[in-house]
Amino acid sequence: MRLLIRFVKQAQRRTQIRPIRHYNFSTVSDLSGTLRDDPKGDTSCAWLCGSSPHIVESLREFVDVQVDFISEEEQQVLMRELEPGLKKKRYEFDHWDDAIHGFRETERVQWGAACEAVIRRLRAHAFPQGSQLLGPVHVLDLDKAGFIKPHIDSVKFCGTTIAGLSLLSDSVMRLVHEEEKTEWVDLFLPQRSLYILRKEARYKYTHEIMKDAESFFAGRRVPRQRRISVICRNLPE
Ligand code: OGA
Ligand code: MN
Repeated sequence: MRLLIRFVKQAQRRTQIRPIRHYNFSTVSDLSGTLRDDPKGDTSCAWLCGSSPHIVESLREFVDVQVDFISEEEQQVLMRELEPGLKKKRYEFDHWDDAIHGFRETERVQWGAACEAVIRRLRAHAFPQGSQLLGPVHVLDLDKAGFIKPHIDSVKFCGTTIAGLSLLSDSVMRLVHEEEKTEWVDLFLPQRSLYILRKEARYKYTHEIMKDAESFFAGRRVPRQRRISVICRNLPE
């Protein structure tokens, strides 16, 4: 079954982009070109690296990762609410041309009180005030072997901003410029973090979630387990 929420405009052939050089920086004006010891240990900007300092700097205002956006307890509450419904579905692996491989998904409009509070906090944080939001929240459950191929969410159904919570597993999201395939950034998404893609990052770059075998951030392995994302979007203006 195809959910209305499947906003994917295009599932591109996987581009073989091997990160050759990595850059990381602590603030926009401090392009150190060095890597931090522990991407999780510093919440300033240790979650962003890319093909060049220029591309990292130019995308910085359009991407954000809030580490520890939810607590362990909130993750458990979300899982308790989502797991029964997800477990009834089977992971889909067989559509080779789909943008997403090894997934099951659902949409949710109504939440229990504790989850509702998290969703409200997420929306207040990620979206401009007065933004028209898409009602249903998209819940995407990726199997350990699952991954999301490069795509751009449909501009017809979804507005400037995509905000997603990552549950259960750390992962790497790669953004690749739609035309200049050598221009890319990687976002390190620890479990319980919130990522936000805005404007250029959402319109001009494809995004993807790396499969386990290719899940590296700045040369460091980021093992991929089963991962659930809880994604909120706004409506086009
Ligand atoms: C999508 C998507 C990212 C994620 O469903 O279109 O890109 O974090 N999901 O699961
Ligand atoms: Mn997407």
